[in-house]
Amino acid sequence: MKSLLRNCETRHRLSQSCEPFLQRIVLRTFCSDTITSACPHASSSSELASLSVRPYDEIPGPQPIPILGNAWRLLPLIGQYQISDVGKISQMFYEEYGKIVRLSGLIGRPDLLFVYDADEIEKVYRQEGPTPFRPSMPCLVYYKSVVRKDFFGELPGVVGVHGESWKEFRTRVQKPVLQPKAIRKYITPIEVVTEDFINRIEKIKGDDDELPGDFDNEIHKWALECIGRVALDVRLGCLGDALSSNSEPQKIIDAAKFALRNVASLELKAPYWRYIPTPLWSRYVRNMNYFIEICMKYIDAAIVRLKNKNTVDESDLSLVEQILAKETDPKIAYIFALDLILVGIDTAMCSILYQLATRPEEQEKIHQELLQILPDPSVSLTTSHLDQAIYMKAFIREVFRVYSTVIGNGRTLQNDTIICGYKIPKGIQVVFPTLVTGNMEEYVADAKTFKPSRWLKESDNENLHPFASLPYGYGARMCLGRRFADLEMQVLLAKLLRSYKLEYHHQPLKYKVTFMYAPDGELKFKFIKR
Ligand code: HEM
Repeated sequence: MKSLLRNCETRHRLSQSCEPFLQRIVLRTFCSDTITSACPHASSSSELASLSVRPYDEIPGPQPIPILGNAWRLLPLIGQYQISDVGKISQMFYEEYGKIVRLSGLIGRPDLLFVYDADEIEKVYRQEGPTPFRPSMPCLVYYKSVVRKDFFGELPGVVGVHGESWKEFRTRVQKPVLQPKAIRKYITPIEVVTEDFINRIEKIKGDDDELPGDFDNEIHKWALECIGRVALDVRLGCLGDALSSNSEPQKIIDAAKFALRNVASLELKAPYWRYIPTPLWSRYVRNMNYFIEICMKYIDAAIVRLKNKNTVDESDLSLVEQILAKETDPKIAYIFALDLILVGIDTAMCSILYQLATRPEEQEKIHQELLQILPDPSVSLTTSHLDQAIYMKAFIREVFRVYSTVIGNGRTLQNDTIICGYKIPKGIQVVFPTLVTGNMEEYVADAKTFKPSRWLKESDNENLHPFASLPYGYGARMCLGRRFADLEMQVLLAKLLRSYKLEYHHQPLKYKVTFMYAPDGELKFKFIKR
């Protein structure tokens, strides 16, 4: 009965959201009491096909201009949009054109189809087969498959890889990154890195407790140090004082900064690098080569350490060692480490800290929770402590909903599919703009209010569409680092908020897209010792 109600609720929402002609189809198709399938959309495609489905060309969207198509809109000076405005553009498209928007005429890439209907998003995700195709990072794809094919070969990793080779690679590496038991081993190492970060905060803050304007750099160094500890089994040394410009940690920091700041430009502006090696592209290649060098250096050191270990009991092994113990070819470990670093260097922490600093009441609730869990702040963190920090986790989840760190996810359709009543050809890139859908009143009750309690188990069963806000994506391709990302955020917040009060006394910051979606401007927080 419950599932029938859920189906009817879904049907009702769909009927409200899509085009009127689709309402007719949907109501006829779904409002029959004979529905037995668990997925409300499962049996729909053949029926829909026989009804009047609109052609792809009729989907509304900005009109491309001759030669430059729609890519000109992202060109500096003449364009009306900035790369960093992608979040805003996505909202504007929805307001101007509705629940399905086609952005065509992009140079060197297929159309982008923005879908703002959570039921339709659910349908696309649920219909994807065993090898979902996420159209990500064209630069990385080109680097892996063309520029350094000699290195990457037939199993080039998970990021920017598709089909059977993606599946095989992911199957070989995913167990240790997703097993809660394996993740637990990292609480102490991440805590140690975080303590060093807090010591650094103490050193760099002024007499008025305020941090310098480039504090985001420090947060990125902490994230880099965490990911180095996880993916390479090493302390990279990025949190050291007065690093010389030639030192390895500084070079790694510079390489990471370059990756964070330029990838969006390389990928979203007209990708001329596909035809001629632009200076930005050449730097990108040098940067990537440097990351490979670093990964090989530290993974080789881990191989030597593993050989000298007396025990091969899996529970004693680090993530890197577990992979090395299973794989005969160390390349799997090099490439996996590289993938984890490339997507793990950015972090949601800038956004989360900004939200905490500007929401003192919420911050106080988390502090009170932590006082209960950690009466003695010097005690080492355990899984049990983090399990109890329920409100803190709900806060993080609500930041993800309202200020979605990844503004959207996407899939390249592998079959012709009907979305919102239009026939979408195979090969089109569908974008699910979580930043917009997570803030839509029809999918999230009282969406405009920042309310962490909506994520607590005991909260009233408010309307919360499960596909409106998916920070880590969905299904077989879901974020591989999500357990580490959660762990890093929870450890940092538990350590910081137990002992410090965060404040922010400057102009409110707007959000923009660099790599992730984050506040744009100087993060001059005050960290006041409690
Ligand atoms: C708050 C931080 C993070 C967010 C919001 C995030 C979000 C995402 C999303 C939305 C995807 C695409 C999932 C899909 O296609 O359904 C993804 C993929 C991925 N993420 Fe994360 N991520 C975060 C942190 C990390 C970290 C720290 C790591 C590494 C330790 C990581 C490793 C990966 C990898 C390897 C993939 C590709 C998986 C595949 O294609 O098979 N992520 N992430």
